[in-house]
Amino acid sequence: MKLLVINGPNLNMLGIREPKHYGKESYEDLLEKLAAHAEKLGAELLCYQSNHEGALVDRIQEAYFEGVDGIVINPGAYTHTSIALLDALSSVSIPTVEVHISDVSRREDFRQISYLRAACVATIAGHGTDGYLEAMTLLSERFKGAKQL
Ligand code: DQA
Repeated sequence: MKLLVINGPNLNMLGIREPKHYGKESYEDLLEKLAAHAEKLGAELLCYQSNHEGALVDRIQEAYFEGVDGIVINPGAYTHTSIALLDALSSVSIPTVEVHISDVSRREDFRQISYLRAACVATIAGHGTDGYLEAMTLLSERFKGAKQL
């Protein structure tokens, strides 16, 4: 199973940006945690981060041609604005889980809308960076289940 974890704008600033919302772990710490979890799941892991909407669209499209089996995406602020990312996920039809480190449901009104949610099989928010691991596990279980059909 090939998993792709995509992080959107400002997630490279983890550990520096607003620790009360996003914790003290750095982006590099997150990458290590993801790699260890992928190994446990027996999955191949690809990770990508960009601050640019078009680059994120390009990466989602590439995932289709690479045969990625599942995507975990934290779209950052593009969650609340990007029809382009929604369309990209809908185009590739790869099972995707949306992750937010903070509990967006308890934050500002403008964070209550997710344009991407409609193209995702689940949304995990407010579990810190463990949410990424939960999303990977969920996709791995789905993948194993689909193979048995
Ligand atoms: C976020 C929540 C978004 O509202 C915010 O713009 C982010 C991070 C989260 O992980 O909690 O950049 O996606």
